Amino acid sequence: MLPVPLRTLNDGGVIPALGLGTAPLDDTRTEEAVAHGLRVGYRLIDTGAVYGNEGGVGRAVAAAEVPREEIRVLTKLPGRHHGYDATLAAFEESRGRLGLEYVDLYLIHWPLPRLDKYVDSWKALIRLREEGLVRSIGVSNFTAEHLDRLEKETGVLPAVNQIEMHPQLPQEELRAVHAEKGIVTLSYSPLGRGTGLVQDPAVAAVAAAHRVTPAQVILRWHLQLDAVPLPRSGDPTRRRDNLDVFGFELSAAELARVGDRARIRIGYDPESHEEF
Ligand SMILES: NC(=O)c1ccc[n+]([C@@H]2O[C@H](COP(=O)([O-])OP(=O)(O)OC[C@H]3O[C@@H](n4cnc5c(N)ncnc54)[C@H](OP(=O)(O)O)[C@@H]3O)[C@@H](O)[C@H]2O)c1
Repeated sequence: MLPVPLRTLNDGGVIPALGLGTAPLDDTRTEEAVAHGLRVGYRLIDTGAVYGNEGGVGRAVAAAEVPREEIRVLTKLPGRHHGYDATLAAFEESRGRLGLEYVDLYLIHWPLPRLDKYVDSWKALIRLREEGLVRSIGVSNFTAEHLDRLEKETGVLPAVNQIEMHPQLPQEELRAVHAEKGIVTLSYSPLGRGTGLVQDPAVAAVAAAHRVTPAQVILRWHLQLDAVPLPRSGDPTRRRDNLDVFGFELSAAELARVGDRARIRIGYDPESHEEF
């Protein structure tokens, strides 16, 4: 298996080009998945306070033989703690559950525009970064308009925006905004979470041509669109295979074939979703 290349962030930090998803695995299954993931080469781990599995991530990181500085732990602020002081307090709780001195990436999980407190939370994240408790700060499920507001009101752009992305939701417009602003796209539900994408005949044909699995083709599609996919699997063999995607390349025609499908959003609409 080839090593995972690194991506440079707009704050000078680096993250691996592919990471490990954990939701909706419970705390115990997350600990097992992350411990195995770290053994086979994952170095970027995605979690969130609302997932209820930060403890499992922390235990796996603490027990791993991998040096802490090689690992990137990403966690997220829940909606119920939006606001400046509430964000600082929620971060401390997450850091405690993770058992870490510092968190590599801290993200606002959802913008909750109706609540209108995400700019205050963003200011708290800027402070956490200045204090060295967080290495890089970012957002999740933010639209172009939300990103613009952060930039206008604070002058600080997120290093990453974690968004739903897969061949049924390629996010061309938002990715163009990210490219212009130097924000790295992290793709969640990268395999299309149970929508049958991994069983799709067109994807299977491309996979057969490269002697790889359909999931590997889909992950390669993300990498070649400059996105950092965060696949989740409860299965050790699939988890390992999902990381083994750096030894082949899709042609432009294959990329188009994988992406040529009806648009489907699996998750929630960031403009209206309220998750506390
Ligand atoms: N920021 C957000 O709002 C947000 C929202 C959703 C998700 N996320 C993050 O993104 C991560 C991934 O998203 P997701 O879990 O929704 O979807 P996903 O990774 O696209 O799909 C997961 C599903 O794909 C299956 N799978 C994994 N590898 C496979 C392979 N090689 N071949 C066939 N099937 C495979 C898994 O089954 P098995 O377990 O049986 O392998 C599981 O059912 C989450 O774990 C979470 O960390 C973030």
